[in-house]
Amino acid sequence: MPTVFITGANRGLGLEFARQYAADGWRVHATVRSEEKIYDLQEVGGDVRIHILDMADSGSIRRAAEKLSGEAIDVLVANAGMYGPSGPLGKLDAEGWAKTLATNAVGPTLLAEAFAEHVARSEMKKMVAVSSKMGSIADNGSGGSYAYRSSKAALNAAWKSLSVDLRERGITVAVLHPGWVRTDMGGPNGLIDPPESVAGMREVIEGLTDENSGEFFDYKGQRIAW
Ligand SMILES: NC(=O)c1ccc[n+]([C@@H]2O[C@H](COP(=O)([O-])OP(=O)(O)OC[C@H]3O[C@@H](n4cnc5c(N)ncnc54)[C@H](OP(=O)(O)O)[C@@H]3O)[C@@H](O)[C@H]2O)c1
Repeated sequence: MPTVFITGANRGLGLEFARQYAADGWRVHATVRSEEKIYDLQEVGGDVRIHILDMADSGSIRRAAEKLSGEAIDVLVANAGMYGPSGPLGKLDAEGWAKTLATNAVGPTLLAEAFAEHVARSEMKKMVAVSSKMGSIADNGSGGSYAYRSSKAALNAAWKSLSVDLRERGITVAVLHPGWVRTDMGGPNGLIDPPESVAGMREVIEGLTDENSGEFFDYKGQRIAW
């Protein structure tokens, strides 16, 4: 029975990842920020184990890894993320920006570091981060969103390094763009719903090999320019 570890699994894409993997019979380690915010994750059937984890708190990441020491994790999905302050030039918010970098770039990379052992002892040995096309420097034609864009670009750069550094342990790494999805973050004008996005990303994850480790794909498997 394969095992997946998913952050930010109480709502949006993380909840849908938990639903789909659990429905396929996987063991699901699903994380939430606090007991009060488990929400619909409670209703997901199957082998679902809930853990508390705050991506902006390195101690919380370390404790989650220690709690699961000895467990093999086939697929690690660093999904949790925040949009952060969207204030335009002239109204940049340094504190909010730092929090966004901590949550979207530093946290997922510390998570990968803390769970490298768990993934290395599994059969599939895969790690993906849910990034965003907004982190693509090549694709930035509209400016703005300084905190979010830079946090996802930093995530992409750090996970590229992970793909190189974890290769010798047999771990395959990729960053994914989920599409513009109708969630709390994506809003009602998104182009697709979570089931379609997550089904697509799961297919991409399934197809990952050491040859395409360190690449940036959208949920349809198309490569995205850095
Ligand atoms: N929706 C889109 O169109 C879209 C497009 C591109 C990329 N993405 C990326 O996809 C991922 C999931 O987004 P979503 O659309 O599902 O967003 P969402 O509905 O807003 O859900 C965000 C999730 O991240 C969690 N989270 C935020 N800060 C956290 C922290 N410090 N520690 C732990 N968990 C934290 C939230 O937990 P709480 O409930 O506790 O806040 C929630 O579970 C994000 O990385 C996002 O950047 C989304």
